[in-house]
Amino acid sequence: MSIESQALSSRRADWHGLPRSRLWLSRNNSRRRRKRAIKNKAINSGQSAIGDVEPTADLNRNGVEEISNDLRRLLADVFALYLKTKNFHWHMSGHHFRDYHLLLDEQAQQIFTMTDDIAERARKIGGNTLHSISEISKHQRLKDDNRESVRPEDMLAGLCTDNRELTRFLRMSHKICEEHNDVASASLIESWIDETERRTWFLSEAVRDH
Ligand SMILES: [Fe+2]
Repeated sequence: MSIESQALSSRRADWHGLPRSRLWLSRNNSRRRRKRAIKNKAINSGQSAIGDVEPTADLNRNGVEEISNDLRRLLADVFALYLKTKNFHWHMSGHHFRDYHLLLDEQAQQIFTMTDDIAERARKIGGNTLHSISEISKHQRLKDDNRESVRPEDMLAGLCTDNRELTRFLRMSHKICEEHNDVASASLIESWIDETERRTWFLSEAVRDH
């Protein structure tokens, strides 16, 4: 380094011996760390799903919190249903193996597509969403099925009940969105209700065979 650039660099350094740009970065990082710690505390308490983004348009913070809390529960249920549908797709057996195996794969794909839209909807309005598998198990309302062996008709009947239950949760979510005039979330939920009712219809018709 030339003598001129050494002199310039020492003029830019403050009393910590750090260049000012680095000192500014370090202060900014510690402010960001404090802010993140406060936010994580709220998230870990399990009650708040509000993010650090300002609420959009005419949604107030209360609306953002209520809707994103609800979307988080919904997302946990949808992940639980996705895995259960895949579980039964993998463990299907019997005379109708091929039909049921394919039906459940198709349904699982449709359910999985919902997950990204639910999570991103929460982020769009300024809320937070799930971070991990442990959060899914904490927030899910639909029950897992860890049985080693399940009869095909029980698999279909169980999924049929779960999809009906999911429709009920979606209707409750729709009501919350309506209360806060969140028409975009409500509109997405309407499509998910239609898809969920279609899955229920197919499953209930398949169960009728037995
Ligand atoms: Fe598969």
